Formats: sequence, structure tokens, C-alpha cells
Amino acid sequence: MSRRHRSADPARTIAWMSAKKKPVSFRTPSIAHGVPGPVYTHFMPYKLVTLGGDGTGPEVMREGLRVLDAVSKVVGVEWEIDDIPCGGQFYLKHGSRDWPEGSEERCDAADLILLGAVGWPSPTGSGPVLMKNGMMAGFSPVLGNRTRLNLFANVRPVKLYKGVRHRIHGTNRQIWEPGKVDMVMVRENTEGLYSPTGGKLAPGGRTEVAIDTRVITRRASEQVIRYAFELCRRRDRGAPKDGKKRVTAIVKDNVLHGCRLFAEIFFEIGEEYPEIEKDTAIVDAFTQWLIGQPEYYDVCVTTNMFGDIVTDLASTLQGGMGMAVGGNIGHDHAMFEPIHGSAPRHAGQDKVNPMAMILSVKEGIEWLGLRKEDERLAKAGAAIETALTRVLETGGPLTYDLVGLEKAAPCSEVGKAIAAEAASILS
Ligand code: IPM
Ligand code: MG
Repeated sequence: MSRRHRSADPARTIAWMSAKKKPVSFRTPSIAHGVPGPVYTHFMPYKLVTLGGDGTGPEVMREGLRVLDAVSKVVGVEWEIDDIPCGGQFYLKHGSRDWPEGSEERCDAADLILLGAVGWPSPTGSGPVLMKNGMMAGFSPVLGNRTRLNLFANVRPVKLYKGVRHRIHGTNRQIWEPGKVDMVMVRENTEGLYSPTGGKLAPGGRTEVAIDTRVITRRASEQVIRYAFELCRRRDRGAPKDGKKRVTAIVKDNVLHGCRLFAEIFFEIGEEYPEIEKDTAIVDAFTQWLIGQPEYYDVCVTTNMFGDIVTDLASTLQGGMGMAVGGNIGHDHAMFEPIHGSAPRHAGQDKVNPMAMILSVKEGIEWLGLRKEDERLAKAGAAIETALTRVLETGGPLTYDLVGLEKAAPCSEVGKAIAAEAASILS
């Protein structure tokens, strides 16, 4: 990897110069519309913001970037990387903010954002480090970016790859079948129970009251529901059980006003997609159907807090949090992250599974490729997924969560193996 340091830049921006130094010109088909696109000449590197964050976040980020570098060199894509430190550890060191002044603008300027993980245990009490405003230190890069950049759809593919054994009762075994778990969960990402409209009354005494208000707006619901239908149309593969294109709205509309509105909008928008089956599930019942018959689901859409909970549950179907990616996608920006946290007790041991981060890189560059009609990124993304599946199917190297501690390989070995495989697929 040859790197060019721009020493005058206080943001410590690094540019990766790819092997291909000359601008590339070619005619691309328009991926979005299926018609021939313009002759495409790409001179500029893409701007990538990396937010490694806390604990194991920077460790998996390193492996994600290793794989990105390997594929970028072959397909001739350049990246200008702006790495922003952030999270609970940054706050403890600097005292007033959970990322540096000006980070918002740096994220706004990015073509793509990658996030590791944020959250660090408070040295003085239980729970994570909190800032003076009561928010978790690490709030700004995650929830801040989601709302400020209107990343209204949290998109979590739940796909079980061959070779993944589920960790149950302390051992790894095949529970669900590859080919029968292949859905995408779409979670509203900017409001619901995460709306900053609550607070505390009479703090400290017996009369103390804490209130969180669940806000469901027509505008945000429409955006995310439309996203889910469009995604279902684009995936064009249907549910594993019956091949039917299906969007399932996960609600609690037998009780909650917000869910009634969400379901109403779901059916309104659904009329524009006659080829897609519309299905609703009450969230509590949904949790057991999800585990018992995942093959029924194609695309699911839900509100913020329900989505937070059901997507972690869904990750069990795909081999755990070490395999699960979350995209935060808006009209003009997107940020991709592994959904596992910073895992402080595993930090610094080169131990955790980098596959969710590597798949975040794949999802991120595929999103950017679609947006910029840049076929090179689509090719690179596909190669990353194929490389990862080959490593899984040939038995490794794999981390402890997939094969148990005795057979475990370090995080960096997994990253190296996938990087080498992806580069060789493209060469
Ligand atoms: C997630 C995480 C975040 C959330 C946390 C880190 C605030 O759990 O992305 O699902 O609750 O959304
Ligand atoms: Mg979560």
C-alpha cells in the first residue's frame, strides 16, 4: 500500500494512491436504470471518513481498510481517507466532546463513512461513559450522524453464509440452513423512541420521573417504507420459502398509535408496488416466527426501537453479531458499521471477528457504486463477498466466535486471508 501523507492538513488526511495512476475512462451501463450510461472518467479519489471509535472498533476497522486497499488497487479506485477519533475513550481524554470540533463538517463532506464501534465503560460507575448532557459518549458519530445527515434507513442484511456454525450452549453447530436465511431488515433510524423529546422530572428524589416519548411522523415513515419497497423490488429474489417478493411491516398496531399510523402508511405506499406482497406482523409474535421460520421473510420494515431489538436477535440466524452489518442510508449520505459494539473486554487482543466490518466495506462501496454509477465499486464489492464466503467454506482462518477458542485465528489473520482472496479474484 503506498500512502501519500498531506502533512499540511491538520486532519491528518491520507490519500491512498492506487496501482493505476492514470485516470480511467470507460462506458458504464447505468446500474440504477439499466440503460447505457455516460462515458465515465474518474480522476478524483473518493472521500472516505473512518470513525474507528472505542475498544475493538479500530481493530476491525484496520481489517476493513486492509480489504478495501487490496480490492481498490486492483480495480483502480483511489480513496482519500480522513480518520476521525471518537467515542468514550476520546471523551475521557479530552473532556468536553466525543469527537473533535469540525467533525460534523468532515462527515458532511464525505462520499462514504465507515464506523467501527463506540461506547466505553465509565471508570466511575456502571454503564458507559456519559457526557455532561447525559448522552452516551459516542452519541455524536452514531446517533448524531444518523439524524444530522438524515440517514433515515438503517439497513441490516441478514444472510447466513455456508460454513457458519451457530454458537449455542457454548459449542458451534449448524442450526439454521444457509439458503433459508436471506432477508433485509430496514429500521427507521431518526425518530421513534430515540427522539430527543423526553427528559427527567424531579431528579434525585422519590418523585423522580423519566419520560421517553415515541414520535412517529408521516414524513419519516414514508421515507423508510418507500426505501423498503424499492429495496425489495431491486433485490428481485423473493423470500427463500416461496420466492415471493414480500415486505413485512413489524408493528404493535393493536396497542400503539404510532404503529397504527406506520401500518396505514405501509399499505398506502404498498399500493404503488402491486407485484410485492404486503404482510404485517405484531412485534412480539414476530420474534418467534423470525427464529422458527426465517425463510418466510424477504424485506422487513419497522420503527426505530423495535428495529434495534429485532435486528440483534436476527443476527443470531447469521452466526452472531460478528457477521452482522448495519448501513445507515439517506438520500445524500451513508454510513456503514458492524452492529457489534466496542467489546471492551476483548479490546487490544486482535481477537474479534472482522467479518461484519469487512461486509460493511462491501455494502458501503456497493452503495457508492450505485450512487456514482461506478462499476468498479460494484465489482470490488462482489469480490469481497465471494472472498469472505470462500474463507468460510474452506474452514478458515476464523475467529473464536465461529470456531471456538482452541481453533481460533486472530482478527488480523482473517482480514489478511480475505484481502488476499479478494485481490486474486479481481486480478
Ligand atoms: C445500533 C446500536 C445503537 C442503537 C447504539 C450504539 C446507540 O445499538 O446501531 O443498533 O441503539 O441504535
Ligand atoms: Mg442496536
